[in-house]
Amino acid sequence: MALDSPELSVSIGNWQLQNPIMTASGTFGYGEEFADFVDLDSLGGMVLKGISLFPKNGNPPPRVVETSCGMLNAIGLENVGIDKFINEKLPRVSRYKSAIVVNILGDSIDEYRELAQRLNDTDIDAIEVNISCPNVKKGGVAFGTDHKMAYEVTRVVRQSCSKPVIMKLTPNVTDIAAIAQAVEEGGADAVSLINTLLGMAIDVKTRRPRLANTVGGLSGPAIKPVALRMVWQVARKVSIPVIGIGGITTVEDVVEFLLAGASAVQVGTANLVNPQTSGQLVEELADYLKSNNMASVHELIGAMEV
Ligand SMILES: Cc1cc2nc3c(=O)[nH]c(=O)nc-3n(C[C@H](O)[C@H](O)[C@H](O)COP(=O)(O)O)c2cc1C
Repeated sequence: MALDSPELSVSIGNWQLQNPIMTASGTFGYGEEFADFVDLDSLGGMVLKGISLFPKNGNPPPRVVETSCGMLNAIGLENVGIDKFINEKLPRVSRYKSAIVVNILGDSIDEYRELAQRLNDTDIDAIEVNISCPNVKKGGVAFGTDHKMAYEVTRVVRQSCSKPVIMKLTPNVTDIAAIAQAVEEGGADAVSLINTLLGMAIDVKTRRPRLANTVGGLSGPAIKPVALRMVWQVARKVSIPVIGIGGITTVEDVVEFLLAGASAVQVGTANLVNPQTSGQLVEELADYLKSNNMASVHELIGAMEV
């Protein structure tokens, strides 16, 4: 391999990505909205906004707040629902070369099953399962915080579709590696982590919470060290690929996650600061490899020295 064109492609199980840079769910709309800013043929993958069985209006405003080195959001998983998504949104992004990953969320195991079955008949490349949502039937405990429930959602989604299944893990647990092992056992092809960390902010003048929902999910550079630690812990415990997410803004951030053991990464909040970030990172990663005399991105994956 000539050094002027380093190898960027990575595999997630049997699924090949043209490079390891993806966008994170909820920060890249339904993809098409970013067409003026990013060459949508150039990314490893686009993970689209989380989709539920029925449309959701989300939480009342204010739903986002800026914090030191990050932001809090309590969007409440607003989305158009699976029917409108398949009929109207998906055809608009399917024509691009970047892989299409659809993030799904359910209030019950049955909802996850139905979403996976519906998406199995489409031409998407993979399903990412958000298990940070509360299980309504089990008293609102998030699927991703209980290893038995995490295993069960994974098993059901795995059995309901033939697409690669990525389980997206919440950091709001004591032992994220144990949850990762449970979803691996359930048949996941990969894990992605982390979703947002629960946080809150108070307006000292009004003494009221700055989010109408009081609490929200913290994202952005503030969470990068936590995410990096969790990716490293999980990568040592599972044999399926790990996709790193959390505060990624620069090519050095990408390299850190790869060194910690991630096979690919997702860029989230940075898209809201500079919508061109994901496309720029693809180019910058190639430049980084060239200027460090590396023939392949694989030279970085899991290569942290201890
Ligand atoms: C405004 C906003 C909306 C989000 N919506 C979703 C979502 O629908 N599904 C999901 O799994 N994660 C969602 N996330 C979490 C991100 O995909 C990502 O895991 C998290 O923000 C950490 O990455 P970052 O620090 O690069 O933003 C959302 C994040 C933000 C900031």
